[in-house]
Amino acid sequence: MRTLSFLILSIGASIFLPSALMAAEPITPIESPADVDTSKVEIGKQLFFDPRLSKSGFLSCNSCHNLSMGGSDNLTSSVGHGWQQGPINSPTVLNSAYNLAQFWDGRAADLKEQAAGPIANPGEMAQPHEVALEVIASIPEYVKSFNATFGDDSITLDRVTDVIAEFERTLVTPNSRFDKWLTGDEDALTSDELEGYQLFKSNGCAGCHNGPAAGATLFQKMGIVSAYETDNPAQGRYAVTGKESDRMVFKVPTLRNIELTYPYFHDGSVSTLEEAVQVMGDIQVGRRFTNVETAKIVSFLKTLTGDQPNFALPRLPPSTPNTPQPNPYGAL
Ligand code: HEC
Ligand code: HEC
Repeated sequence: MRTLSFLILSIGASIFLPSALMAAEPITPIESPADVDTSKVEIGKQLFFDPRLSKSGFLSCNSCHNLSMGGSDNLTSSVGHGWQQGPINSPTVLNSAYNLAQFWDGRAADLKEQAAGPIANPGEMAQPHEVALEVIASIPEYVKSFNATFGDDSITLDRVTDVIAEFERTLVTPNSRFDKWLTGDEDALTSDELEGYQLFKSNGCAGCHNGPAAGATLFQKMGIVSAYETDNPAQGRYAVTGKESDRMVFKVPTLRNIELTYPYFHDGSVSTLEEAVQVMGDIQVGRRFTNVETAKIVSFLKTLTGDQPNFALPRLPPSTPNTPQPNPYGAL
């Protein structure tokens, strides 16, 4: 039995692998951006980790997009200023440069526009932009870096979000086993993983989860075949466009590093990849997968885990007597 399925698979694989056909795969390899501005990246990296951008002096971008945990916080919804419960699951920042727009409902056009949101959001970092800018401007080493990068001392929201976005562009995760297979290493995947990929394609998952990020290219309804049951009030694109047809339409999330970014879905209600795959089967493509099929699809999904960000932790320059004081315990 084992030999037989192995034989069938190797025939399948050899039909599948020639480079002429590889270009037709719906998922394509993730590549590092070629043209990053390294001086912006270095300041952006510091600011991404700097909790002084928050009112409490405690929350940084990395608190909710932990780069040691797949760029997410692994919580149903994030913990914001004053231990407030966030309204929605925190998506990963890894490979977020590939998103057609940012946020579950796509309300920010790009990473730069997005980065201004969480700093001032009262439920997240809760720091008015003026104060966040004052904090940065009070720290001579930051001023020096901004000067070296932009040619003068001015610290503006535009520059701050620009450098954070430039850092985020570098948060790509190449060299997953799946990408090795895509680029010609036939031994990179096991037969179960390959069968999982075939099931992923033959059941229409790749119709929505495609491109280099295995997602992030489309807005689609959550609940095509049957409605998605959730207590979370988020309505997706409807909040942005006001169109009835956009109710429950969300950005199709990336499936890169999906084994690391549990719990799943915008409401963070599903804690295992097995259940997430079964929910997608049920409500998006109308297929009830067997446990064996589910396990194969999950084993394929786990091959999408790539190289995680790997750099020395940035050293943050010290505050000065002029730096606005953090307020971790005051009124919300
Ligand atoms: C308190 C937790 C929290 C903090 C702090 C936080 N974020 Fe987020 N982030 C979230 C949540 C939750 C979402 C999803 C919100 C939504 O879609 O409505 C999000 C969305 C994003 C997205 C969009 C990803 C996607 O797939 O759409 C990016 C990029 C991002 N955050 C970057 C940042 C940056 C940069 C900072 C620091 C300036 C930051 N975040 C601070 C919780 C947080
Ligand atoms: C019609 C488009 C569409 C199809 C087809 C589809 N998905 Fe999805 N998928 C989505 C959307 C949209 C979401 C996010 C929904 C939400 O959280 O509200 C999602 C979320 C997911 C998630 C959770 C991602 C996360 O970060 O929370 C997984 C895993 C997933 N899909 C796998 C699959 C698999 C496996 C299939 C095939 C059985 C599939 N999808 C078919 C649109 C689709």
